Amino acid sequence: MTINEWTRALRYQSYDSWSIDYLEKLTQSVQQSTWRMAYHIQPKTGLLNDPNGFSFFNGRWHLFYQAYPFGPVHGLKSWYHLSSTNLIDWQDEGYGLLPDHPMDSHGVYSGTAIAVEDQLLLAYTGNVRDENWERLTYQMGAWMDKNNQIQKINQPLIPAPPAGYTTHFRDPQVIRYAERYLLIIGAQTNQEEGRVLVYQSDTLTDWELLGELQFTDQSLGFMVECPTLVFIDEKPVLIFCPQGMDKNDLAYQNIYPNTYIVGESFDLETLTIHNPSPIQNLDEGFDLYATQGFCAPDGRILSVGWAGLPEIEYPTDREGWAHSLSLIRELSLKDNRLYQQPVKEYENLRQNVQSFNGELSDLTCIKGNQKNTYELEIDLPKATTGTLYLFADQTNKHHLALHFDTKHGKMILDRSQTDEPFAQAFGETRSVDFTANQSLQLQIFADQSICEIFVNNGEKVLTSRVFPTENAHHLFLEGQGGHYEGNIWNLRSAL
Ligand code: FRU
Repeated sequence: MTINEWTRALRYQSYDSWSIDYLEKLTQSVQQSTWRMAYHIQPKTGLLNDPNGFSFFNGRWHLFYQAYPFGPVHGLKSWYHLSSTNLIDWQDEGYGLLPDHPMDSHGVYSGTAIAVEDQLLLAYTGNVRDENWERLTYQMGAWMDKNNQIQKINQPLIPAPPAGYTTHFRDPQVIRYAERYLLIIGAQTNQEEGRVLVYQSDTLTDWELLGELQFTDQSLGFMVECPTLVFIDEKPVLIFCPQGMDKNDLAYQNIYPNTYIVGESFDLETLTIHNPSPIQNLDEGFDLYATQGFCAPDGRILSVGWAGLPEIEYPTDREGWAHSLSLIRELSLKDNRLYQQPVKEYENLRQNVQSFNGELSDLTCIKGNQKNTYELEIDLPKATTGTLYLFADQTNKHHLALHFDTKHGKMILDRSQTDEPFAQAFGETRSVDFTANQSLQLQIFADQSICEIFVNNGEKVLTSRVFPTENAHHLFLEGQGGHYEGNIWNLRSAL
């Protein structure tokens, strides 16, 4: 069930021109996949990209995502809607926003949501192409009521990019700050340099441009996508995707990085984040982009990202689907560094536990032939070296290898020996540094074709897709230098 040539005409064909028969066959093909996940949010068919509108409203968590349901390609986008009471079991709410308005006719692009009294405001980018396929961009709004009925606001919140900026102007985030609303948005100057702009409003309908957010002296590449500003312990943290950022300014290997800065304070008068850290990678793995964060009513700062990257082919493309969201993470600051931990709610997925321990030595099998839907916690003492082999087949020929060296505080994730290599042009290893000469604590969530590795309570995170063969369920450990111990839980399915 695959279309070999995804022409532009096909990708932008209206939703109702696809036959029910086509969608049924596609659904069947996707359901047969052995790479479907048990507790990650994934598309029923077609492509998922950015998380959108992550919020808490009317007693439930709401989360939308960028969807193109007819194939594993970037076509005519909509917002697909899910809701939850516990952040792990998500109820399917169907399409939230379809591209059915003259100002979003070529895609309901990314944005955010904010609860305002008894409604939820959805702020998004309406993507339009004219008859010459020139891009137009509108920042749009829609109101969702307590019955999840969504009504688009007819007039755009922002009708066009300001003078001096191109139509690469998208992904609005609306937040409440200093008794007004702010809208933070990704932009590109006419000189093709990435920027973040800030607007303000009292009414949520009339928006006044304040100017460019000042948060770094570093160059931001040619475009900034998906900026998200959160305040943690009152310090501003900006998470963003600087496309084309110079690799001399930031070491990264993914096609585009997802990055962050932490500042000391935010001055609205001058639009300045004072004393910003250098730009840093948010995630050290192979696949994370477009992370969105928000301050939940319970005081936690939560985030979720797209476990995928633009412009890369993935092995599930041939099955007619692509990508998932990451786990939901709680953000915190320690010594001015951002920590990311899976929200505690994921403990509710745990089923039977198996504890293990031993001396690091020759290859040992820690887990045998059960599905790759588990959480693993392992402590490795200082002055050890070794390798943890995840998603390994019985003979350990194919695997995802995690090499560690706690003496030097280094870890390398090696995807080169997996069954289905992909995106090799962007390198097959990712390395991470952490505090040397200390024990290492890893918390690893595996879910069939994704692996999220939290290092030392979230000091570093590596999010990576991996595509094992059906029987590659083993977990091996080898090394030297000390005693290890850990727990492994089977995780139940959610969704
Ligand atoms: C990031 C992005 C956004 C855009 C959306 C379109 O992945 O390119 O900038 O709004 O995806 O799907």
